[in-house]
Amino acid sequence: EDPAGRARFDELITADQRVEPTDWMPDAYRKTLVRQVSQHAHSEIIGMQPEGNWITRAPSLKRKAILMAKVQDEAGHGLYLYSAAQTLGVTRDRMTEDLISGKAKYSSIFNYPTPTWADMGSIGWLVDGAAICNQVPLCRASYGPYARAMVRICKEESFHQRQGFEILLHLSRGTKEQHEMAQESVNRWYAPALMMFGPPDADSPNSAQSMAWNIKRFSNDDLRQRFVDMIVPQAEVLGLTLPDPDLKWNEERGHYDYGELDWNEFSEVLKGRGPANAIRLERRRQAHEGGAWVREAAAAYAERRRAMAEK
Ligand code: ACO
Repeated sequence: EDPAGRARFDELITADQRVEPTDWMPDAYRKTLVRQVSQHAHSEIIGMQPEGNWITRAPSLKRKAILMAKVQDEAGHGLYLYSAAQTLGVTRDRMTEDLISGKAKYSSIFNYPTPTWADMGSIGWLVDGAAICNQVPLCRASYGPYARAMVRICKEESFHQRQGFEILLHLSRGTKEQHEMAQESVNRWYAPALMMFGPPDADSPNSAQSMAWNIKRFSNDDLRQRFVDMIVPQAEVLGLTLPDPDLKWNEERGHYDYGELDWNEFSEVLKGRGPANAIRLERRRQAHEGGAWVREAAAAYAERRRAMAEK
């Protein structure tokens, strides 16, 4: 413990200023950030798979180009976030090992399959919409590199959300079959999207400390409520219904009430037993192994440049 460092850290947090990589910080603060930022990075990288599944089958050249760009954005988000985590002292190799060994968590949402084209719409509208609600406040997180990475990520997520909305709008106003496909997809993604915000506040062990450190700015339930309030009028514009019979405006609270979520399902997904956990990790492992030659070549090239510079 460094008393001067501790005092400076406390001062920064109290003044709501940024902590930078060279500042002293408590071990627990560093640990919680490594946990959250690496999980966030893994989510972006695993999140490429459910949509990557549709690149070769997108219904038009334009849709294909948009989808490719979006999936590439997600790769970029993963890379900024791994870089932000590295400033905390964890290596990229270590994070990758933890992901492919199944030790590290990533967002529950990416363990659901994408059987229809409408799922590209639901992912954009609901999943990226939830991501924005959760991530806009993270642009003000106390750790500088994380907060700065979030600014660009949020701008790109806004575009992703709109493109998803537009896919659903197009389907909803299309043929009867297309409308049904859109509705069926929203029926499957609605509850898992609400679970993205994490367990209810009473069961969220990390929230209180993360809020005290200005990493999280709002609780899981507050953000979930904000998201529900946002999507209800959007669903009306889409001409689609949200699959929750308990969803209704509560005049007194000034918010929409919504039904209980299946937290048992959430816990199963977190334990690796969701519908697509095994395939997501297997694909990631294969991609990592398949990329070994690139890493070896890059290391050999760096070594040769170093040797030449020494001559
Ligand atoms: N999926 C998987 N794990 C989750 C989820 C989820 N949706 N929600 C919570 N958890 C995990 C937490 O990581 C934590 O586990 P851990 O202690 O082993 O790390 C546990 O459940 C308990 O949850 P909380 O105490 O509420 O955890 P935390 O304070 O970290 O809050 C949250 C969870 C809201 C997801 C937070 O970590 C966060 O804001 N992360 C950054 C955003 C992010 O990762 N988004 C990824 C999906 S969006 C996208 O990539 C498009």
